[in-house]
Amino acid sequence: MSALFAPDSDAMQRALALLADMSFEEKLGQMNQVNGDGGHISGDLAQAIREGRVGSVINEVNPDIIVQLQRIAVHESRCGIPLLIGRDVIHGFKTIFPIPLGLASSWCPDTIESAARISALEASEIGINWTFSPMIDICRDPRWGRVAECFGEDPVLCSTLAVAMVKGYQTDDLASQGAIAACAKHFVGYGASESGRDYNTTNISEHDLRNVHMPSFHAASNNNVATFMTSFSDVNGEPVSANKWLLTDVLKDEWHFGGLVVSDWASVHQLTVHGIAGCDRHAAELAINAGVDMEMVSATFISYGHQLIHENKVQQQRIDQAVARILAVKFALGLFDQGVTNLPAPKHNLAAHLDASRVCAEKSCVLLKNQSHTLPLNTDKLNSVALLGMLADDDYEQLGTWIFDGDITRSCTLHQGLRNVLPDHVAINYHKVFDNTRDCDTKHIPDAITLASASDAVIVCVGEEAILSGEAHCRAELGLPGAQQQLINALSEHLSSKGVPLILVVMAGRPLAIESAVQQVDALLYAWHPGSMGGAAIANLLVGNAVPSGKLPITFPRKVGQIPIYHSVKPGGRPVNRDNFVHMDAFPMRAEQTSLGMSSSHMDTDFTPLFPFGFGLSYTHFAYHDVILDNLLLHTGDTLGVSLAVTNQGHVAGDEVVQLYIRDHVASATRPVRELKAFQRVSLQPGETQRVKFHLPADELAFFDARGKRCLEPGTFTLWVGGDSNAALCADFELVGEVA
Ligand code: GLC
Repeated sequence: MSALFAPDSDAMQRALALLADMSFEEKLGQMNQVNGDGGHISGDLAQAIREGRVGSVINEVNPDIIVQLQRIAVHESRCGIPLLIGRDVIHGFKTIFPIPLGLASSWCPDTIESAARISALEASEIGINWTFSPMIDICRDPRWGRVAECFGEDPVLCSTLAVAMVKGYQTDDLASQGAIAACAKHFVGYGASESGRDYNTTNISEHDLRNVHMPSFHAASNNNVATFMTSFSDVNGEPVSANKWLLTDVLKDEWHFGGLVVSDWASVHQLTVHGIAGCDRHAAELAINAGVDMEMVSATFISYGHQLIHENKVQQQRIDQAVARILAVKFALGLFDQGVTNLPAPKHNLAAHLDASRVCAEKSCVLLKNQSHTLPLNTDKLNSVALLGMLADDDYEQLGTWIFDGDITRSCTLHQGLRNVLPDHVAINYHKVFDNTRDCDTKHIPDAITLASASDAVIVCVGEEAILSGEAHCRAELGLPGAQQQLINALSEHLSSKGVPLILVVMAGRPLAIESAVQQVDALLYAWHPGSMGGAAIANLLVGNAVPSGKLPITFPRKVGQIPIYHSVKPGGRPVNRDNFVHMDAFPMRAEQTSLGMSSSHMDTDFTPLFPFGFGLSYTHFAYHDVILDNLLLHTGDTLGVSLAVTNQGHVAGDEVVQLYIRDHVASATRPVRELKAFQRVSLQPGETQRVKFHLPADELAFFDARGKRCLEPGTFTLWVGGDSNAALCADFELVGEVA
C-alpha cells in the first residue's frame, strides 16, 4: 500500500475536494495527455489548455515554453490546474549514466538512486515533473531491443533496483524542489515479447506473471511510485491497456496502488489494431473501464468520453476515480503550491554530476575475462597502445538508447580517457577501422594490424551503435555486427605469437553471443553503453585506477538458439548435467537413438551459458567459506540468519557482490533450481576477511502456484552463497509449520 495516495492522504483529500468543483469536460481534460509542439505553443494547444482539455504535456523541453504552458493552465483556465510535464528521462537527462542494464550490473541500489537523483535534478531544472522511468520489465531474451532499458532477468535484483530508482527520482518528499514523479513501466510482461520481437504478443501464465514479472511492479507500488504505465503488448490475449484484471483487480484493488495509470504512446488507439476494439470510441470505453486513468496522445478519452457517459458505457464514478488519482499526483508533487513563476532550480554542479556518471560507469562495467592478469595494464612497461574501433572515439554512440536530451559535449570517450590516464610517453595508436558498427568493409583491417603489431598492448573496442538497441530495435542474431569479428580474427592471428596482450572492450545495449571472440582475446571488459563518462571509467579500469566490481544482471547465451537461458530455470524431468550431456560432434556413427544424453540440452552447443547470471571478475580474488545458519529448522514467521566469511585473497582492495540463492526441493509447483533471494556489496582490503550476514524471512520463501495462489510450504531447502549464480558454498535447512 503506497501511503502517498492513500484515501486519507493529504494529496487525495485535496484532490477529491477539487474534483467536486469540476465540470465533466474538465475531468475528461485531466485524462488527456498531449504531445508538445516542440519549442513553441500552437494556438490549438493554448486554447485546449485554457478550456481545461489537457492534463499533461509530453516531450516539451524548452523551459520558457514550459513556464508559459503552466501559466496558461494555472492563470487562464477556470480550475487553474497545473500540468504534468512528462519526458523519458531513462538513464540521465543532460548528463547520461550507463544504460539501465549497465546500471543493474552495479548491483548497487545506492548507485542507482544517486543516478536517478541527478537525473531528476537536471530534468526538473527546466520544468519537467514526471519521468517515464524506471522501466522494470523482466527480460530473458537479449534479442529484444528494450533489454537495454531494463534491469535484467531477475525479480529480486530488479525489485531492489526499482525501489532505489523511484526513491532517487521522488525522494522522501515528492513536493520538494528537484523531485519528479516516477513511472513503473511497462506493466506487465512486456519483456516476454514472443521471439524477442518488440510489440509482439506475450503468453505468460499467472504462475509466471506473479513469480517473475509482477514482483518488481509490486515493490514499486509498495514504495510510493506515483505512476504506472501500461504495456503495449497483449497478455494471454488481452492487451494490457484494456486489461481490467491487471489494471484494476490486481494493481488497484489487490495491491492498493493509489497513483495514476497512464497508457503507453497511443496504446489505447492500438486496441483497434490489436483487434479487440472496433473503433476508437470502443477503445476508449475498454481502456477507461479497465483502469487506464490518463491517455497518452491518442485522444480517444477526450473525444468520446461524453458519448460513453451518455450511453452509460462508462460510469461517472470511474471518471471521478481516474481524475482523483491524477489530481492527487499533482498535489503530491506540490504543483498547486509552487506556482509557475518559480525560477528554475539553481544550475546543477556539472563536475559533480559527471563524476557521479563516471563512478556509476566504473561500477557497471563487467570484467568477463582476464587471462594471466592481463589487466590492469602496467603503464610503466608500455611505450605504445593500439586503440582500435570507432566506438572508442564516439561521443554519441557510447551514450546508448533513450538519451533524448543527452549533451554530447559532456562525453569523455575511451580515446580521451586513455590519454588522460596514460603517462605522456605512452603513444596511443588509434584507428577507427570502421565507419560504424554495421560496416562490412574490411579495407582498414590491414592498417589496424600494422598499428597493433607495432604496439605493446592492443585495445579493440567493438559492439553496437546506440540505435541497434532500444525500442523496436531487435535482432535475430546476437553476434558482433558488421566486420568486427573479422577484425578480432585478424588481430588474434597476428598477435597470439607476439605476446602482445589483446584486450576486448565491448559497448552494447544487450548481451552479445561472442563465444569465439572471448576465446581469441586475453581480457574482456563489457561496458554496455556506459554513458557520458564511459571513456573515463573504462580507462580507469584498464589501468587499475579503479577495480572492476560489476556482475551480470542477465545471462549471456553462447548462441541465440539457447534463448531463453537464465539462472532460475525449472529442473524439468530430465535435467542436463556434465555427466549426461553429449555434444553431437562426439556422437558415434549410427548411434542407437536412445543411447545419447536423453537430457534437456541442444546437441550442437554446450548446455551452459557463455557467462552466468551474477558473474563478474575483479583484479583480486574472493574466497567464500564458513557458512553458518542460525537455525536449521525455520518456522513460518521466523527469519533465517545466514552468515559467511568472505576473504580478499589478492593484493588489491576490491568490492564483491555477495549473492544468496535458494532452492525449494519439493513443492506443490515446480520451483527453480536456483533463485536469487538476497545480495550485498562488500569492500575488502587485501587479505581482509569479513563475515557477511543475511536475514531471510521465511515469508520470502513463498511462491505462487500453477493457479497463481500464494503458497508457503514446509520442506527442505538448499541455500548457496557466492559471487555468481554458480555459487558452490551451500547449506540445507528445513521450513516447518503449517501450509500458508
Ligand atoms: C514509448 C515507450 C514508452 C515511453 C513512451 C513516451 O513508445 O514505449 O516507454 O515512455 O512511448 O515516449
